[in-house]
Amino acid sequence: MKTLFKNIKQLVQVRPESTQYVAGVQMKELPCIDNAWLLVEDGIITDFGEMTGCPAIQVDEEVECTGRLVMPTWCDSHTHIVYAGNREKEFVDRINGLSYEEIAERGGGILNSAKRLREISEEELYEQSRVRLEEIMAMGTGAVEIKSGYGLSADSELKMLWVIKRLKQNYPVQIKATFLGAHAIPDEFKNNGAGYIDMLINEVMPKIAKENLAEYVDVFCEKGYFDVEDTEKILAAGKNFGLIPKIHVNQFNVIGGVQAGVKYNALSVDHLEELSDQDIQTLKKSGTMPVALPSCSFFLSIPYTPARRIIDAGLPLALATDYNPGSTPSGNMSLVVAIACIKMKMNPEEAINAATINGAYAMGVADRVGSITKGKKASLIVTKPLNSYASIAYSYGANHIERVFIR
Ligand code: NIG
Ligand code: FE
Repeated sequence: MKTLFKNIKQLVQVRPESTQYVAGVQMKELPCIDNAWLLVEDGIITDFGEMTGCPAIQVDEEVECTGRLVMPTWCDSHTHIVYAGNREKEFVDRINGLSYEEIAERGGGILNSAKRLREISEEELYEQSRVRLEEIMAMGTGAVEIKSGYGLSADSELKMLWVIKRLKQNYPVQIKATFLGAHAIPDEFKNNGAGYIDMLINEVMPKIAKENLAEYVDVFCEKGYFDVEDTEKILAAGKNFGLIPKIHVNQFNVIGGVQAGVKYNALSVDHLEELSDQDIQTLKKSGTMPVALPSCSFFLSIPYTPARRIIDAGLPLALATDYNPGSTPSGNMSLVVAIACIKMKMNPEEAINAATINGAYAMGVADRVGSITKGKKASLIVTKPLNSYASIAYSYGANHIERVFIR
């Protein structure tokens, strides 16, 4: 099957080599070809160039792209899209004055989502989750990391991971699974956090390894959830089972989570709404990707991750949605790019690099997606007629996407 995209106004994020990630000043460069063509064969990008050199070949489909941009699909490296029900009531409670932390202290929050998830069948959970996966695909996401963490018992955590496995089997999107049993301490272990962690390590992790249910391990390293010692214990155990760390750190407090992540060679450290200078120094000596989740800051009205400090220090940065029922009920990566430009002072080039190639690195798929590179998967966004890629941020909230091709 051959598909030729013709008369592309601008082919965005063209990288001849399969770059791992871009960092610091490099993030201001977004390589493009104006007036371009691109050839896809059996779901793989095989060639592209300027229209003047467009080959006259027989193809199965031609996609006319006059006035339109073609870009790699978004790589959303941090989501929790497998969940049950919603938390609209807590949303209204927050409007009326309660904080996210206060709601959690009253038994709402993650524990509320866990209660709902435990009550429904695997089938029903799959149904609710695949709707969200299809929703984000239509919004241009072609690679997504999905976490467990709303089960908080052996059975329910495994139920979530089986659902993720089924999504992997049934959809063409690149999906990576993360075990986030350490998302909160469930009521049964209220006074025995150590017992809960032991259960995750001794009961759940061996099953995950045996059934190959996850690539990554995550911990909510935060005051009132899991401290640095807990985090290190879980990451060390995860390593024994082949799980690479990708962790929640510094959402509300700087407690040493960045150092714990880097110590265990985390692929990414995510949130970073709070960030010390020491954290920046630690990240500089690592291959760990900092990940910002601006839709979460927007929804909870908490500080934005200091992107300028991170990038200006020469570090890379990735952007992801954090799509989940409590802190970010949105999986819209175009909106994430817009908020990053508007609120975090990222240039459109930096934001698009962060949402494509750097996001791909943060979920371990940079060799397959995240740029227009020969040999990579043909996961592509064709925009509506657009002035330039800056329009994605400038006319924020609008739908700029006309078609999405996933492999
Ligand atoms: O990344 N902070 C921890 N976990 C999620 C939110 C969980 C929830 O509120 O359900 C996050 O924001
Ligand atoms: Fe999260």
